Amino acid sequence: MQDKLRAEVPQMLTADQAVGMIGTLDIAVFQVQTQSTFNDRASFLRVQTLARSALGRYIYLEVGSHIGGSLFPHLIDPACQGAVSVDPRPAALPDERAEFMRYPENSTARMIAVLSERLPPSAMAKLTTFDSDVSAVPPGAVEPKATLAFIDGEHTNRACFSDFAGVLQLTKPDCIISFHDANLIADAIINAERFLDHLGVAHETVFLPDTVAVMGLGRLASAVRDELQPHGLDRVAFLERSQRELWSHIAKVHSREIRTEVERLRSDNARLAEEIERTRKAGRLDARMSRMARRASARIRKVVDRIKRRFAR
Ligand SMILES: C[S@@+](CC[C@H](N)C(=O)[O-])C[C@H]1O[C@@H](n2cnc3c(N)ncnc32)[C@H](O)[C@@H]1O
Repeated sequence: MQDKLRAEVPQMLTADQAVGMIGTLDIAVFQVQTQSTFNDRASFLRVQTLARSALGRYIYLEVGSHIGGSLFPHLIDPACQGAVSVDPRPAALPDERAEFMRYPENSTARMIAVLSERLPPSAMAKLTTFDSDVSAVPPGAVEPKATLAFIDGEHTNRACFSDFAGVLQLTKPDCIISFHDANLIADAIINAERFLDHLGVAHETVFLPDTVAVMGLGRLASAVRDELQPHGLDRVAFLERSQRELWSHIAKVHSREIRTEVERLRSDNARLAEEIERTRKAGRLDARMSRMARRASARIRKVVDRIKRRFAR
């Protein structure tokens, strides 16, 4: 099973090899399975390269780690001084597509076991884990605060915005926060931008292929814009396409549900029709029986009346 969770590279990478691969956006550096497309992985590496050049050393904070695929390139990178994984480890979670995603055997112990097979103890020593929602992590629990964060937990707008608010408590004012599956949680990203406007925090967002949104905050806003926008997607086109695809997916899921519901109602109807027919027949019987009961009670009343008259004499 664990063999399947690893990518194809047979040998444990050295830190030097990994740094070279990160800088050239070589996605073979992902040695543990990640739930992301090849383009997403290249975008993750582009963000990591920006963090390395703009920050030198950085602290990485990840919301939603599964088996550690997206943690791996940071744990192996000497520029990453510490990595924090926050994941409450549910067995299933909802997402904006109106469907539930299943995560069997979802545990921190499993993630650590998988990562430890591909990383030396010195890299694993950088990792801190919290089996909770990020809103439950006390701000003082991540020190020094993170400078690079990645949000890839529950893909609903509500959860994602809440994750963003929680991450803000655990990051420095000048930081980079990126989001995976930005096509699903675009509304949360737009809300996050409005929230930063409200707080008076400078920010810039770039959308990278396939579905990675990267937000630079404070001093890092211009770095994100200048370094990443040349590789970025057109914002308006990305948001419009995401919305169109999401709505059409939801419509398909619902029409599937509506079809199932209609079938259920049809079979309920057929059952009800049979029941009505049975009741109708039973109703005729009841009528016959109540006529008999009425006749019987009339006879009894006659007998009682006769007895009463006899005593009255
Ligand atoms: C899409 S997977 C993460 C994949 C991982 N980042 C990767 O690329 O390999 C989603 C993860 O989010 C986690 N999750 C669910 N609800 C969460 C929450 N409220 N906060 C953080 N993580 C959550 C799930 O347990 C699951 O491990």
